Amino acid sequence: MTQTPHIGVKNLNVRIGDSHLLKDININIPDKSVTSIIGPSGCGKTTLLKSFNRLLDDIPGVNITGNVLVDGEDIYGKHADVTQIRKKMGLLAQRPFPLPMSIYDNIAYGPRIHGAPSKKELNALVEHYLKAVGLWEEVKGRLHGSASSLSIGQQQRLCLARGLAVEPEIILGDESTSALDPISTKIIEDLIIQLKEKYTIVLVTHILRQARRVSDYIIFVYMGEIIEFGPTEEILLNPKEKLTKEYVKGFIS
Ligand SMILES: Nc1ncnc2c1ncn2[C@@H]1O[C@H](COP(=O)(O)OP(=O)(O)OP(=O)(O)O)[C@@H](O)[C@H]1O
Ligand SMILES: [Mg+2]
Repeated sequence: MTQTPHIGVKNLNVRIGDSHLLKDININIPDKSVTSIIGPSGCGKTTLLKSFNRLLDDIPGVNITGNVLVDGEDIYGKHADVTQIRKKMGLLAQRPFPLPMSIYDNIAYGPRIHGAPSKKELNALVEHYLKAVGLWEEVKGRLHGSASSLSIGQQQRLCLARGLAVEPEIILGDESTSALDPISTKIIEDLIIQLKEKYTIVLVTHILRQARRVSDYIIFVYMGEIIEFGPTEEILLNPKEKLTKEYVKGFIS
């Protein structure tokens, strides 16, 4: 792999109470590419994704050891600034959670918090990010209408636009299309492929066809361990490890 790692994980172990959820994770996630995390239910995909954004911190009884380097800086280091770390990453959840306000204000929310743009600048930002997710034409006549009036697929694109408006470097997605119809799913997948020009993208998915369509690299996780990591075609079509073979065999023809 010749690309620079954007996220580097070193000897990461996550325990909650007596459960050892992630075991000695070592991985370098390349910059400006899409990496999918696959594996059976309960294997630790969401936990791994959340460890990149320090979203595990608040779980009672959690114990995290090891390092996660983002741009070379350890996000679990003593002097790490959690707000800054989170600002670098946009998170697209399984279901869209638009803020209970207008379409316009959903996008303007982040820029308003992080700076004091003028009305004119905000208008331009809102248009820019709605265009970036292909939503502008659909909503330009109702920008001040409630975000909750949008379809679920449109809401998910709005949430993506809201995340992008904070200017992250990394986009994390946890089964972000699982609540969507096939057309909305396709729109999000196409956006992901476009967005990797500018962002490092890490997606959790249990849909191997989706991993194949959108990702450059795949991480296969099984019972809290990374079994195999490599280019998409290699993992899905010609894996080295027996466990990976067995996992992908049932799904890929
Ligand atoms: N807050 C928690 N407290 C205790 N155990 C937890 C907690 N969160 C997750 N786990 C356990 O950690 C393991 C990994 O969970 P995780 O949500 O990361 O799996 P996953 O691979 O994302 O699964 P799925 O595909 O079903 O979403 C599971 O056994 C889960 O029950
Ligand atoms: Mg999960």
